[in-house]
Amino acid sequence: MAKIVPYRRPNPETQPAYLHSAYASSIKRAPAKSPIYLPQTLSEVTGPSFTIAAIDVKACDLTHQHSGEPLGERIIVSGRVLDEDGRPLQYSLIEVWQANAAGRYLHKRDQHNAPLDPNFTGCGHTLTDAEGRYRFVTIRPGAYPWGNHHNAWRPAHMHFSVFGAGFASRLVTQMYFPGDPLLPFDPIFNCTADENARNRLISQFDWENTIPSEALGFRFDIVMSGREATPMET
Ligand SMILES: [Fe+2]
Repeated sequence: MAKIVPYRRPNPETQPAYLHSAYASSIKRAPAKSPIYLPQTLSEVTGPSFTIAAIDVKACDLTHQHSGEPLGERIIVSGRVLDEDGRPLQYSLIEVWQANAAGRYLHKRDQHNAPLDPNFTGCGHTLTDAEGRYRFVTIRPGAYPWGNHHNAWRPAHMHFSVFGAGFASRLVTQMYFPGDPLLPFDPIFNCTADENARNRLISQFDWENTIPSEALGFRFDIVMSGREATPMET
């Protein structure tokens, strides 16, 4: 029988608390009882695996999914996906979804009084390459209001889902932008108590990958588990 190597469990301080009273929805969602410890068996630590045939190779460019180009500031978001020992995770499926430049999602539940963009859907996916690298072309999302408390605004963010090497390591999180003045006021960003862990959710301006006259670059490396793990979304 194959030897099962479980994932390192995260330090609770480096992940969002289930209950963070400033984030109103967490009061309803947080479990009332202590979690049950589940051992990681073969089905948790392996698969699913993906090949290039399973994806749409053009889906990494969110600016060319329609007849025209979306409004907003074009950006390149790229980085690497690493495991708990810093090894690249190759051919891992990454999905992203985000608001448009005006801060509006193309979703029936988003009734924010901001325009939709007929040239922007806001969803994309890609596979990491053999060195664990990924790259998206998109537009910088706008901040948007939400009903958590009076005058609540989400900082600009992109949602990420990363499958990693197995079901137990799947990561769903949000990437933020450096210097965003809304970050100190955002209960979702601040759900993670450990400041260093929280700051791993902020991308870095990436001069190397900025394209002259075309797009600014932002780098966002993702660590699936272990001491340097990227925090999950609450
Ligand atoms: Fe969002």
